[in-house]
Amino acid sequence: MAEFTTIIEPFRIHSVEPIRITTREERDAALAAAGLNLFSLRSEDVLIDLLTDSGTGAMSSEQWAGIQRGDESYAGSPSWFRFRDAVVELFGFAHVIPTHQGRAAEKILFSVVGGPGKVIPNNTHFDTTRANVEFTGAEALDIPVAEGRVPSSEHPFKGNMDVDALRALLAERADDVPVVMVTVTNNSGGGQPVSLENLRAVRAVCDEFGKPLFLDGCRFAENAWFVREREAGQADRPIPDIVREMAALADGMTMSAKKDGLANIGGWLACNDDALAEQARNLLILTEGFPTYGGLAGRDLEAIAQGLAEVVDEDYLRYRIRSTAYLGDALHAAGVPLVRPSGGHAVYLDARALLPHIPPEQLPGQALACALYVEGGIRGCEIGTVMFGEHAAMDLVRLAIPRRTYTQSHIDYVIEVVTAVAARASELRGLRIVTAPPALRHFTATFAPL
Ligand SMILES: Cc1ncc(COP(=O)(O)O)c(C=O)c1O
Repeated sequence: MAEFTTIIEPFRIHSVEPIRITTREERDAALAAAGLNLFSLRSEDVLIDLLTDSGTGAMSSEQWAGIQRGDESYAGSPSWFRFRDAVVELFGFAHVIPTHQGRAAEKILFSVVGGPGKVIPNNTHFDTTRANVEFTGAEALDIPVAEGRVPSSEHPFKGNMDVDALRALLAERADDVPVVMVTVTNNSGGGQPVSLENLRAVRAVCDEFGKPLFLDGCRFAENAWFVREREAGQADRPIPDIVREMAALADGMTMSAKKDGLANIGGWLACNDDALAEQARNLLILTEGFPTYGGLAGRDLEAIAQGLAEVVDEDYLRYRIRSTAYLGDALHAAGVPLVRPSGGHAVYLDARALLPHIPPEQLPGQALACALYVEGGIRGCEIGTVMFGEHAAMDLVRLAIPRRTYTQSHIDYVIEVVTAVAARASELRGLRIVTAPPALRHFTATFAPL
């Protein structure tokens, strides 16, 4: 058969959920009532919801079948064994500890290894990872490669860790570093992948200093696809093989199954260290649940086990990565500044570049996110000064694409709305924070226009 160039959604729609078209006046009122915080909107007031790709994807008919099959036995359920086997099949870690989502795995890991005086290096900590590290009194240190901090730089692996910075840290403070983390793909750094070459180099430095390496594996399949597409010598490898190599370079992982688990809830902590696993299981029982279900129902374990089989499918990944690039390429062609190249799960608008008249302390990312909502009912997420305060290297608005959820015409509409807002960027005004909690302030802070 001839090779056609159109990459189609490799599924057809089985069940639909209506979305509601609102007027600009309605959106203005909804946003004001939400204190200009998009997390505080009712989702019915959002037309295209690109707030997050976490837990917002569509499950397959086989996953829904798994939901029916879910066995809710308190201990030793067959659903647990299917889940555990699916995780071990791809990642090979000796211990798998199910949690209700990624941050619960982080909380347990850092409760065991963190604490005052410790420092955890990562290519870039995600917000919940940073918060869980800091909550123990430890320091969360971001050491991405230099290209990773420059939105416009075209580099195939902008998610890579700065290996020299890691070595320098370990040379100076080895005793203070309990674990080295690498986030694949690097969400806060633009959904950018990490190469196998970089992971091998990080592994070698960890070995030099006798330190364990953990992956934050939320988007492991998207990372493996980028490795196959962009890294020399990887083009013919099956995706599960690449995933297994990534995992084999690490000693453990934290995971949110709400991303590349293709599930609406779930996660796990996995590791090879027996003593760490025992301490983690004891904490799990305290707050999550018995170790054969953790924070999950049996049906959720089934949905994740099936999701792990589907997420490494090449047709799915080709469509997934291409449909994100479709949005990014169109906006780039229209002259909208954004993180290049497009990430796996999201397109990141560069609010600092689009709104040079709004300095970081006047929250250009939040101002842009609000404008996209008022203009066209699109909900994105600020990843910048609101989220990270003084740690923010960039002010971005992430448009995250839920998996298998929106069609190409939805994305064409998004392109139109973003382009319209960009055309009147000079009219946008900065914001100030009115109220904010001490940690993870982006979820609940309120804002006012300056
Ligand atoms: C890279 C990364 N790590 C950790 C998490 C936390 O996962 P969860 O939301 O399931 O707690 C996320 C969620 O967005 C993430 O993107």
